[in-house]
Amino acid sequence: MGEMQIPESMMALRLTGVGMDSVELQEIEVPRPEADQVLCRVECAAACASDGKIIDQGAEHSLMHGWDTAKWPVTLGHEGCVTAVEVGKMWEDKIEVGKRYAVQPAIPSAPSRYRDRYANGGRGIRKIAVGYTLPGLFAEYVVIEPEVIGCSCLVPVPDDHIPHYAAALTEPISCVVAAQQHNFHVVKDSPDTPRKAHIGLLPGGTTLLLGAGPMGLWHAEIAMTYKPKTLIISEPNAARRETAQQFFGAKAREAGINLVLATPEVLEDVIRDVTGGRGVDDCIVALGIRAIQEKSFDYLGEGGVTNLFGGVKAGEEMIQVNARRIHYESISVVGSSGSDPSDMMETMEMVADGRLEPGKYVAAVGGLDAARDLLLAVREQRMEGKGIIYPAMRRPLEEINGWSAAQETAFSGR
Ligand SMILES: NC(=O)c1ccc[n+]([C@@H]2O[C@H](COP(=O)([O-])OP(=O)(O)OC[C@H]3O[C@@H](n4cnc5c(N)ncnc54)[C@H](O)[C@@H]3O)[C@@H](O)[C@H]2O)c1
Repeated sequence: MGEMQIPESMMALRLTGVGMDSVELQEIEVPRPEADQVLCRVECAAACASDGKIIDQGAEHSLMHGWDTAKWPVTLGHEGCVTAVEVGKMWEDKIEVGKRYAVQPAIPSAPSRYRDRYANGGRGIRKIAVGYTLPGLFAEYVVIEPEVIGCSCLVPVPDDHIPHYAAALTEPISCVVAAQQHNFHVVKDSPDTPRKAHIGLLPGGTTLLLGAGPMGLWHAEIAMTYKPKTLIISEPNAARRETAQQFFGAKAREAGINLVLATPEVLEDVIRDVTGGRGVDDCIVALGIRAIQEKSFDYLGEGGVTNLFGGVKAGEEMIQVNARRIHYESISVVGSSGSDPSDMMETMEMVADGRLEPGKYVAAVGGLDAARDLLLAVREQRMEGKGIIYPAMRRPLEEINGWSAAQETAFSGR
């Protein structure tokens, strides 16, 4: 990459209070990196249902730690691909100008800057995040803080052929990879051999997926790598069921997996039929609704595991679990939030060797001026896949049906 001209100002989508009315595209100064920071150009950024939570909750969000967005607006966006353009002295051996990185937004660290803006002076904080209190990716440029690099959360894109959108999408996909590795089963080869732990969904078992939103679709894709006998996807939205059928029908058939699409109304009957009344081995709750999290336990068979992948709103966190079923039938519950750099590297490898093609999940693209519309569309569940924003561009949100490296270059010029 030749010498890059860094402009003095840029556009950024910022949260300046609480609620969608406080999401504003603003012109701000392009920050220049100090010795412990790196300035990156944002190639693209994707929207996530989780963005809605910080918009609605502001300082109350668990990753904001009391930071008041009305006093100190934050730039949104936590999934993206960036190119390093100016590297502070401290990182010259680690980060290369002109090289691309995917951002792992969840940083297992205390904040180094602006500690007075956090509740309690930042004491006790162990996790911060890009697109929350650290500058986000719905902007033309982003300053990457030392804790991001120190925690290896700028993940190098290993291959020039990986398009920007695919690198960006390794983050949400890696949350799914990580989540499914939290399901575990205590198994035995025979009654007289010791127990052992199987990490991941049960091969040859029945996996149930609740919700076929963008994250649910990836859960279906990654679930199939565990080779369940049956994969049931429950989703009330007909268009989303149709998308799931289109994406996975043929792939499941080829892999010998029985794919069953169901509506929540008939789900119990479907599970009874498919499992002979036994219940499922793995359930993934790919939505954040308390009543459905609670209900998910009812679908489990003996030794079954439910994974609470979607987080519920603060104040709705208490659910009831049947303690007799835990005791007598060894059902269990797991959960995880986010991923770490190793999950992203694993996902990036799947993208690089073609096992995973994120392009089919891209349902809309636009310039930075479309980022707010995209967040609204995600909020109102009008998106059948992921939306990608190219911050260098000014273009309205355009619905598309899949995306490729060539289309990306034609659209963004990069
Ligand atoms: N754990 C993590 O690391 C992580 C990472 C990213 C997102 N998330 C969370 O994952 C969840 C899913 O994300 P998304 O972008 O796909 O969200 P989404 O809101 O687009 O999708 C949820 C889907 O659930 C469906 N649904 C509603 N009621 C249902 C029911 N009774 N049974 C089955 N399906 C039902 C909806 O129709 C919708 O299609 C969100 O809560 C998000 O915050 C978690």
